[in-house]
Amino acid sequence: MASADIGLIGLAVMGSNLALNIAEKGYTVAVHNRTAARIDEFVATAKEQGLDGKVVPEADLVQFIQSVKRPRSIIIMVKAGKPVDEMIEQLLPHLDAGDAILECGNSLFTDTQRRFDYLTPKGIGYLGIGVSGGEEGARHGPSIMVGGAEEQWKNAQPILEAISAKFNGEPCCAYLGKGGAGHFVKTIHNGIEYGDMQMIAEVYGVMRDGLGMDPKTASGVFKEWNNGPLNSYLIEITGYVLEAIDPQTGKPLVDLILDKAGQKGTGVWSAIAAQQLGVPATAIEGAVAARSISSGKDERVAAEAVYGKRSGSHGRHIDIGDLEKALLAGKIVSYAQGFAVMAKASEEYGWNLPLATIAKIWRAGCIIRSRFLDQMSAAFARGGATNLLMVPDFVTIMKDAHHSLRKIVAAGAIGEFPLICLSASLAYFDSYRQAQGTANLTQGQRDFFGAHGFELIDRPGEQHGTWPSTLGN
Ligand code: 6PG
Repeated sequence: MASADIGLIGLAVMGSNLALNIAEKGYTVAVHNRTAARIDEFVATAKEQGLDGKVVPEADLVQFIQSVKRPRSIIIMVKAGKPVDEMIEQLLPHLDAGDAILECGNSLFTDTQRRFDYLTPKGIGYLGIGVSGGEEGARHGPSIMVGGAEEQWKNAQPILEAISAKFNGEPCCAYLGKGGAGHFVKTIHNGIEYGDMQMIAEVYGVMRDGLGMDPKTASGVFKEWNNGPLNSYLIEITGYVLEAIDPQTGKPLVDLILDKAGQKGTGVWSAIAAQQLGVPATAIEGAVAARSISSGKDERVAAEAVYGKRSGSHGRHIDIGDLEKALLAGKIVSYAQGFAVMAKASEEYGWNLPLATIAKIWRAGCIIRSRFLDQMSAAFARGGATNLLMVPDFVTIMKDAHHSLRKIVAAGAIGEFPLICLSASLAYFDSYRQAQGTANLTQGQRDFFGAHGFELIDRPGEQHGTWPSTLGN
């Protein structure tokens, strides 16, 4: 009676779209949802799309499990956190050795690791899978970042590859490492997504407040940029968002949208992971901070009343060409940081993350898909460098583009437009390429108050200074 190639639990938007994608690729998919009415709605949608023949709807969880061919692959698309653990416990008594749970939400990678460690000794394969591309991606081809049980990955591989996005015919789906590797990579993807979005928003701020551009004109600039080195999904949709008109008022929609950004947590996880690994990811941190500041609208309104509005016209000499290059430079720094975080995590957790493959499977399907990821994957495939800022192709771009980033950040500082992310990228770049830094002074201070010791440049071993007493000061 087992007729389905794969099972899927959780028919909210992402789950439904993934199930339809699977059916469309010719695989039979068993579907289950806690609320049975949602299953009926899904079947109706599948029917409209001529795919109901490939769907096995099951309102009973046990029958649902039994309807999937062994070794079973069961996708769960439920809310991250406790609901995932609860679902695992419900499934567990009815699974057989060799079966697999494929969890495709935005889970914290340490939760995924814990679940993997819990299920592996029980003979159940656990796969933590990052799926990127939003609703459209899930339906027509997402980027799929797989981590966890390698043996069970091989069972699900043909289906996951079939439903994934393709770049030059290659599937944007890969196994990246054991345990929580897939969800870790998805988290960093989201951190980079935050950085990209924030830097685009900052550039829009320069256009609006510095150059006095209306949304339609700004939209035209982004559309133009999408034909050049910045070509990417996020630049493309920015062009559309900026040109949209609110039908009720006839005004640009973007001018009516409240300037408070939401966030569900993956950006914060990304910044925390970077900090814990001791790898700077200042662009991601800046982007998370910018969203947090944005959410305190009332406080910002009160602060503007205290300090006054920004003084206005200082940005009018800004060159659009510089703005484009500044965004490119900021992005390169942000990606360099994201990849450096992954390289360190790979070492720390023994994942052996394939950086070139990660860049490859991000070339299509996902939210950060872009032209320059192709260049990045080629750079990592050549090997040698873990920081993109040291890869010859990117060195060439940065040598030119950092001057523009500098001009824009300076214009922001003088013109009073906040550029949290772009300025963080520039400061990182300047710190990264500065052979003689200022931590010698920090080390002296640490030794002064805490006898932490320091190294000297002209003799070996840990040293201490002879410091005056400051007692009584
Ligand atoms: C994707 C997205 C998707 C979602 C994130 C970020 O890759 O398809 O990253 O997973 O956008 O949840 O959402 P927030 O901006 O709400 O944190």
